[in-house]
Amino acid sequence: MGILDGKAGFVTGGGRGIGRGHCLHLGAQGAGVVVNDVDLEEAEKVAAEIREAGGRAVASQADIGSRKGAQELVEQCVDEYGAVDCAVNNAGIVRDRSFLKMSDEEWEDVLRIHAGGTFWCAQESARRMRAAGTGGSIVNTVSAAHMGNFGQTNYGGAKGAIASMTYTWANELARYGIRVNAISPSGTTRMSESAKGVDGKAPAAGWFLDPTLNGPFVAYLCSDEGNWITGQVFGTGGDRVVIMDQPSYGTGMFRPEGWGVEALQEQMPKFFKNRLQAVGLHKQPYPYYDGVVPPDGD
Ligand SMILES: NC(=O)c1ccc[n+]([C@@H]2O[C@H](COP(=O)([O-])OP(=O)(O)OC[C@H]3O[C@@H](n4cnc5c(N)ncnc54)[C@H](O)[C@@H]3O)[C@@H](O)[C@H]2O)c1
Repeated sequence: MGILDGKAGFVTGGGRGIGRGHCLHLGAQGAGVVVNDVDLEEAEKVAAEIREAGGRAVASQADIGSRKGAQELVEQCVDEYGAVDCAVNNAGIVRDRSFLKMSDEEWEDVLRIHAGGTFWCAQESARRMRAAGTGGSIVNTVSAAHMGNFGQTNYGGAKGAIASMTYTWANELARYGIRVNAISPSGTTRMSESAKGVDGKAPAAGWFLDPTLNGPFVAYLCSDEGNWITGQVFGTGGDRVVIMDQPSYGTGMFRPEGWGVEALQEQMPKFFKNRLQAVGLHKQPYPYYDGVVPPDGD
């Protein structure tokens, strides 16, 4: 008996890393799982692992970075298991490059697969869920990189888009019993090998965080146990389940007649000089109070 008995769903990018862990846990909790990955060999291995453990799973090679691929994937889930109850959007790539050097191709590929893939797979799934009238759970994947991270204009931008889509869809789809949440996972994977710390260096050799540890939380979000949770982002992996603060207006200054330039010149430094927010993922104290100015000699 598992918390997903009788349900079915898919995990994009389920052939390795974090997505593989989601698949194994969905399968272990009783769901029929479509293990999706452009790398079919890896997807087949994960599906076989689930079946060998007594679960239900098939592989899909659909490229979710297109409407057609998303349609194929959702159709396969419905054909195989009769429904799509859980849609786990996890697939992704990185093409890191500093902003001034980033090419159109690097920008477009990352946006297409992360933001586009999430949009297409979620929309195809939500349409089926609404038609079936049985509700469902969509779990998207963001990253702390959406707070701003050096070299990740494309990736951070895509993850920010996914967070915003999560909040929007939660509001739009609750009336159909469809919940939409996101995780910001962690784990040692092929992708994390390219991640840098606050010092700009890769993690120490030998450091390992089991990427499958995000899976139980995804299974919980997909189950009816989690039916009170929507529109939320949780940091997961390792020892943590932490809720991510959502963007909101903070402190401010108000003037009934509105703000002209002279009033701004006078009041901006007085009010905001010690109140600017840390910029970026690493949250160091705001470093630019002395001015952001061209380097000497330029
Ligand atoms: N590893 C981390 O610490 C970390 C941190 C934050 C967010 N994430 C996010 O977690 C998710 C999984 O990352 P991971 O670390 O397991 O990476 P990974 O590279 O190990 O796995 C990603 C999988 O997605 C597949 N994939 C790529 N493009 C695809 C497409 N178009 N269609 C279908 N499958 C496709 C790849 O073949 C691969 O198997 C990503 O969304 C990533 O941004 C990871």
